[in-house]
Amino acid sequence: MTKPYKIMFVCLGNICRSPMAELLLKDMVKKLGREAEFYIESSATSDENVFNGVGAPVYSHTRTLLEGKGISCAGKRAQVLTAEHGDEFDLFLCMDGANVRNATRILGAKNAHKIKKLLSYAGESGDVADPWYTRDFERSYQDVKRGLEGLLEILR
Ligand code: 4NP
Repeated sequence: MTKPYKIMFVCLGNICRSPMAELLLKDMVKKLGREAEFYIESSATSDENVFNGVGAPVYSHTRTLLEGKGISCAGKRAQVLTAEHGDEFDLFLCMDGANVRNATRILGAKNAHKIKKLLSYAGESGDVADPWYTRDFERSYQDVKRGLEGLLEILR
């Protein structure tokens, strides 16, 4: 058995977009019987949602949306992206351009080549807008889903 491909999704707070991507991709690969091919996590470029070392759960609106699509958020807690993740993961998929800049600063030049925007896998140059600010959670979910579908096509 080959080693799983290790993917880290990255956003600003790790309570909306990157948990959506982590939990949806886990659900997609499970349904496809491709679970063993991947190891998947998500993290934040800010420490806004980690308090005394304890990460916040998925934001209530994101959780409601995912649960409505049959995806549980149980156990997911926010964590901060660190330099140590740089050598551990194969790919860092960011939601927007600011995430790419911050992830590059955190991971350093050595692992900068592993950092991409998720929507580039859907052939798009745009960002997954932050629903914390737009309040359009369904739109962010659809953007994430398109990116993940493209990713799974390319990683086959
Ligand atoms: P996310 O959204 O980056 O998609 O998780 C955010 C959630 C919380 C905050 C910022 C963005 N915040 O500042 O707490």
